[in-house]
Amino acid sequence: MQYLNIVNGPEHASSIILGCMRMPALSVSDAAGMIRAAWQEGINFFDHATCYGDGEAETRFGDAFPETGLRREQVYLQSKCGLHFDRKEFDWSKEDILSSVDGSLRRLRTDYLDTLLLHRPDLLFEPEQVAEAFEQLWQSGKVRFFGVSNVTPGQLMLLKKYVRQPLVINQLQFSLEQTQLIDPGLYLNNLTTDRSVDRDNGVLDYCRLNSITIQAWSPLQFGMFKGCFVDHPDFPEMNRALGEIGEQYGVPKTAVAIAWILRHPARMQAIAGTMNPQHLRDICAAAKVRLTHQEWYRLYLAAGKFLP
Ligand SMILES: NC(=O)c1ccc[n+]([C@@H]2O[C@H](COP(=O)([O-])OP(=O)(O)OC[C@H]3O[C@@H](n4cnc5c(N)ncnc54)[C@H](OP(=O)(O)O)[C@@H]3O)[C@@H](O)[C@H]2O)c1
Repeated sequence: MQYLNIVNGPEHASSIILGCMRMPALSVSDAAGMIRAAWQEGINFFDHATCYGDGEAETRFGDAFPETGLRREQVYLQSKCGLHFDRKEFDWSKEDILSSVDGSLRRLRTDYLDTLLLHRPDLLFEPEQVAEAFEQLWQSGKVRFFGVSNVTPGQLMLLKKYVRQPLVINQLQFSLEQTQLIDPGLYLNNLTTDRSVDRDNGVLDYCRLNSITIQAWSPLQFGMFKGCFVDHPDFPEMNRALGEIGEQYGVPKTAVAIAWILRHPARMQAIAGTMNPQHLRDICAAAKVRLTHQEWYRLYLAAGKFLP
């Protein structure tokens, strides 16, 4: 496993995170097995959100954790707030942030979160309210560090005008198939492809310039939760390249796909969402791989991109 110090945030955080969005599908004992498998691979960082399974993911984790033999302080627990699919609204009000955190703490059976992220922008957000909520959570010791997810540079700047605590993480979608985070940097000014369209206002460069760690969500999915691209018949060239490079390093294809994310100099974390211990072990073999510059480009092109 590789580790990084998140600037102004958790130190020695594993570069691969176990994402717990799909944990409601597991029994308590299988969830404990999954957490233990992650720990054995060197993962010390776990991602949650209040909305995953309507709280069921946090409940399952909280119920399972005592069975793992791990101590709370050995791991980093992260949760996210603000998404209310049940109410069909996103909410970053002070009241909602505070009550979400209390719910997460109760379900996870802990008295603090290491990191709290605002999950996805509330179109009506008032940064003053976020600042008040964060201050209260920080003063009370309920949350150690703060960040965001799916947030643009402009929204980050607006938050930073009011929020006193550093915003240390931005969780964004990024995979070998979903490359919108990096594409505009390459196709700039190119009217022949939609890839030149900068849909997120340069969030990658903004995060790098401001030492905000990017966490890549759905690192093996194509589209939005359409399925895993590894061994999928729709991606023959990509899978050929993943297979050939994997053979050279003696690792599975999924490890190469994760190594491709970790090779980016922004030093991202990748959030693996598998709930299968063997799949997770395969993914963690990414730690054995440092792709060459040329291999990284070969994979980008094999994923259907081209050089202008
Ligand atoms: N901030 C946000 O807006 C946001 C959005 C989405 C997700 N997330 C976070 O990101 C995490 C990861 O998302 P994700 O689950 O979509 O990511 P993923 O790791 O790209 O996909 C995992 C899914 O792929 C399946 N899969 C099929 N073959 C696989 C293989 N060989 N190896 C590994 N997985 C395989 C897994 O099934 P098996 O379980 O059977 O392996 C699982 O259903 C979530 O848990 C959540 O924490 C954040």
